[in-house]
Amino acid sequence: MKKTIKDISVKDKKVIVRCDFNVPLKDGKITDDTRIKAALPTIEYLKEQGAAVILMSHLGRPDGQAKSEYTLEPVSKRLSELLGTDVIFAKSDVVVDNNVKGQAEKLGFGQIMLLENVRFRKEETKNGTDFAKELASLADIFVNDAFGTAHRAHASTAGVADYLPAVSGFLIEKEVEFLGNAVENPARPFVAIMGGAKVGDKISVIRNLLNKVDTLIIGGGMAYTFYKSMGLDIGTSILDKDSVGLASDLLKEADEKNVKMLIPVDVVCGKEFKNDTETVVCKRDEIPSDMMGLDIGPETISLYKEEISKAKTIVWNGPMGVFEMENFAKGTFEIASAMADSEAITVIGGGDSAAAVTQFGLESKMTHISTGGGASLEFLEGKTLPGVAVLEDK
Ligand code: 3PG
Repeated sequence: MKKTIKDISVKDKKVIVRCDFNVPLKDGKITDDTRIKAALPTIEYLKEQGAAVILMSHLGRPDGQAKSEYTLEPVSKRLSELLGTDVIFAKSDVVVDNNVKGQAEKLGFGQIMLLENVRFRKEETKNGTDFAKELASLADIFVNDAFGTAHRAHASTAGVADYLPAVSGFLIEKEVEFLGNAVENPARPFVAIMGGAKVGDKISVIRNLLNKVDTLIIGGGMAYTFYKSMGLDIGTSILDKDSVGLASDLLKEADEKNVKMLIPVDVVCGKEFKNDTETVVCKRDEIPSDMMGLDIGPETISLYKEEISKAKTIVWNGPMGVFEMENFAKGTFEIASAMADSEAITVIGGGDSAAAVTQFGLESKMTHISTGGGASLEFLEGKTLPGVAVLEDK
């Protein structure tokens, strides 16, 4: 167990907090502020406890250059609105300079400031010692609350912990608790649902989960790689060519481990990759040679819903079809709805499945929706996340 901000005294201390404010922007406007909202409990607690709060984050991948489209200024404005208090934005192309140091020194207890995008500095992603020291020099304590970036060993997520006492914020605590308990201590039956396009991307997660789950449900684009490994014709469906052998190994492994592995039994096919294309529903061994599978079919939906209704723990990562297109969103919607209606502990890995749950308005019906895409996948793979590993143990 890692120490959290509740295990130390932060009163009259300068606390530097790594958040994941890597939010989507369109024309300079934030289109989804979920990650900002997820950081509020930690920030509010530190403020109430009388700490001077210095926030830092990356935004996008500016490759070590100060590019204005990646400034954190819009985040600072949104934060001010959400917190109902002024957030000082420490604008600097080099993130930490004499001016910023002065601002941090003068920052009063109960006040909040936000540094500029840490990826404006090349040293950030290289975990450069000098940059980590510069960040550490601003504060007395380091708090990591950036679960979404905890799989990166960068200066602001890991390096800074070499120079300051380091503890976790409430978001990392919650993510590790929910994802960790679901996988290590699941109420059974434990069902994992894996989707998305490529088997190769999820191979390690599937392998790790095969040691833990009772049932593994496969959907989405990766199903066609499994079909190929079963000798079925997949028409023009997406194929992860390099992973056909892996898919067949996984089917064997599931069998050896007595894990019930479900592959879709029918498919909604489309002629072209667009919403208003000609469609046909067919069994998995009847995919027309000039069509591609774009969603799971009705029989598969019933079969999967049946499994979901029996489960006590469900972990879901990756959509069942091309849910961004209305005509191919049904499979993903039905699975999300079945999870929402279930009494089981429901944990949504971040990324596309979190976006789907939000699109369907089902967020409040899930036990936990992770704010991490890559980070939650690495966690489910059983990997140690560097941004968590550097924090002090209780
Ligand atoms: C994410 O959105 O997954 C995190 O913020 C990490 O971003 P990165 O993949 O650019 O490191």
